[in-house]
Amino acid sequence: MKRKIYVFDTTLRDGEQVPGAKLNLEEKLDVAVQIAKMKVDMMEVGFPSSSQGDFEAVKAISEKIGQEVCIAALGRAVEADIDAIYQSIRKAQDPLIHIVLGSSELHVSKKLQKTPEQIIEIGAASVKYAKQFLPKVQYSLEDASRSDFEYMWKTIEAVVKAGATIINIPDTVGYAVPEQFGNLIYRINDRLKNLDPNVILSVHCHNDTGLATANTLAAVRNGADKVECTVNGIGERAGNTSLEEVVMGIKLHEDYYGGYTTIDTAKIYETSRMVSATMGLDVQVNKAITGENAFAHSSGIHQDGLLKSKDVYEIMDPETVGAPPMELVLTARSGKHAFLYVTKRLGFEIPEEHFPEVFEKFLQLADRKKEVYDNDILTLFKCCPNVK
Ligand code: KIV
Ligand code: ZN
Repeated sequence: MKRKIYVFDTTLRDGEQVPGAKLNLEEKLDVAVQIAKMKVDMMEVGFPSSSQGDFEAVKAISEKIGQEVCIAALGRAVEADIDAIYQSIRKAQDPLIHIVLGSSELHVSKKLQKTPEQIIEIGAASVKYAKQFLPKVQYSLEDASRSDFEYMWKTIEAVVKAGATIINIPDTVGYAVPEQFGNLIYRINDRLKNLDPNVILSVHCHNDTGLATANTLAAVRNGADKVECTVNGIGERAGNTSLEEVVMGIKLHEDYYGGYTTIDTAKIYETSRMVSATMGLDVQVNKAITGENAFAHSSGIHQDGLLKSKDVYEIMDPETVGAPPMELVLTARSGKHAFLYVTKRLGFEIPEEHFPEVFEKFLQLADRKKEVYDNDILTLFKCCPNVK
């Protein structure tokens, strides 16, 4: 039986940490409403103790969409942060307190300047404190992918005993590679399911070497129940796991992963465009799933294959993600087949005996212009007396 993989969107928390992407309250509300349309399972919408503005935004979002989706907010393992989280999300129907504390040697001794034992105590105490307010508490072991395994496990045992309901394993600096990260998740999952099978195992990957999606999928294959991601993969430095990539990766390979998400994938494209426009962050043209060229085909061989059967070169119908239909971009490499397809679509009939001459004119134009659009074809045919 396939299991459900929970999708936790952090566009408005980790995504909003991108320099230059700061949103005002209205914009945050609009983005939250749009993301909720995709039917994400959980949405992290801010770090309420960081500023009054963030607190107000988290509160306003909770009040606006907190009846439809589980709202989460982040804070450190300190009481003041947890108080701020609770006060900002308490009106939501199913709120989640998210606590983060480092677990790697670098975090424990250099950043936090504590002993490993002290960190475990602080972490467990913070979970206990949070549990007084709400039943759902997520604990993130920051920099988990560079942490000592046995130390990490001791921390997990302590925070689960204190009441954590979700354990999140972040690859905070995008250091992991898929086989290794998958193995780490396998080992944690193996022990966690014995410790408490109801605890959700989550992953949160960064994209510093372009592996966030691959690492997340490797984690799902090895037992992760929940994936953290952002729309368009925005986030600190090189970003987070991209929601659209990981969701479509799972959807295309549900048997392999033994799981599925309940994301309304048809809302992905419009959400990607909306987040990009509101945050002022362009989507790269060749971005998987949502880039302008994601469903554009320009080489003659590919165009010919597609015109015979779409699935020769398309692994998903653009409609599945709500994107415009596939586009054939005519270039000097386009074959006759693609040229005829476009000219017919535009309503032209080229008599067979004149086809070589017209096609030659098209090739000359394509050599000059590189890409030939519908308007160029219309202009070309104005000068062709033999075409109706
Ligand atoms: O990257 C990270 O470690 C985080 C945690 C708060 C999950 O963003
Ligand atoms: Zn992060």
